[in-house]
Amino acid sequence: MDAPIRPELVDFHGISMTKIFTENWENIQNFQARPDDILIATYAKAGTTWVSQILDLLYFGQTERHKTLPIYERVPFLELHIPSYMSGTEQADNLPTSPRLIKTHLPYQLVPKSFWEQNCRVVYVARNAKDNMVSYYHFNRMNQGQPAAGDWNSFFQKFMEGKMVFGPWYDHVNGWWKKKQTYPKIHYMFYEDMIEDTGREIDKLCSFLGLSPSAEEKRMVVGGTQFDNMKKNEMANYSTIPMMDFKISPFMRKGKVGDWKNHFTVAQNEEFDEDYKQKMKDPTLQFRTTI
Ligand code: A3P
Repeated sequence: MDAPIRPELVDFHGISMTKIFTENWENIQNFQARPDDILIATYAKAGTTWVSQILDLLYFGQTERHKTLPIYERVPFLELHIPSYMSGTEQADNLPTSPRLIKTHLPYQLVPKSFWEQNCRVVYVARNAKDNMVSYYHFNRMNQGQPAAGDWNSFFQKFMEGKMVFGPWYDHVNGWWKKKQTYPKIHYMFYEDMIEDTGREIDKLCSFLGLSPSAEEKRMVVGGTQFDNMKKNEMANYSTIPMMDFKISPFMRKGKVGDWKNHFTVAQNEEFDEDYKQKMKDPTLQFRTTI
């Protein structure tokens, strides 16, 4: 049985959200970005934590901070606001590091305007819809701060209808892809590429950021961000968040491409593909559901 604290979806500027992401809206809208801030933008469950850990290690290495502060303190979640517990804007304002790494799941049109005005770099990570859906399903099952997942079949329908926190996956990935045409300081990455060759994707990321790590530093980043290492790293695996019940599903669950095949029925897959074709018309944005 789901606990009663499970929130309802609310419509917020046309996007489904829950209160913990809208209640601090004035401070979010007025958030003052700095020119060297790096915004890590993703649809939820696309690999945010992975790329956050990569960026944190690239910039700051394996320092004391890295070993003692959980990822959500090193990389604040901008729109998250749980009174007297956590506030993304406050955490970001108080971050002692430079650059500041800041995470968001907002669709591009809701991002505070100072990020664009300050010409900040944005790292966007996208993940194929099928695996993203499966990961999101297990996340909503285990995280009491999210709406109840319901059964797989109803979650599957809700995902296609866009009735998810942060709105439809389809609009999110397309919106950020189009934004990149007019705002070139977006590095658009794919989870599947990172799985295929993490080192290659870190090289591309570094060239976007203007970083040149040594071979040794790069080895440390690749090693430190491997799935198995992050899964057992308490500062990266979210095991310190009480709202998450790892007995239902761990945060670092499988870390694979293609787990959707263990969830989608043949009929669901056909229905999904038909609907996908209608929603994803831009031939320049292609995802891989297997590698
Ligand atoms: P799964 O549920 O499919 O395992 P986010 O950080 O955006 O919430 O995304 C979480 C997803 O990224 C989870 O997917 C998680 O296992 C996966 N992930 C996290 N770290 C990873 C890593 N180092 N390598 C591969 N996948 C990783």
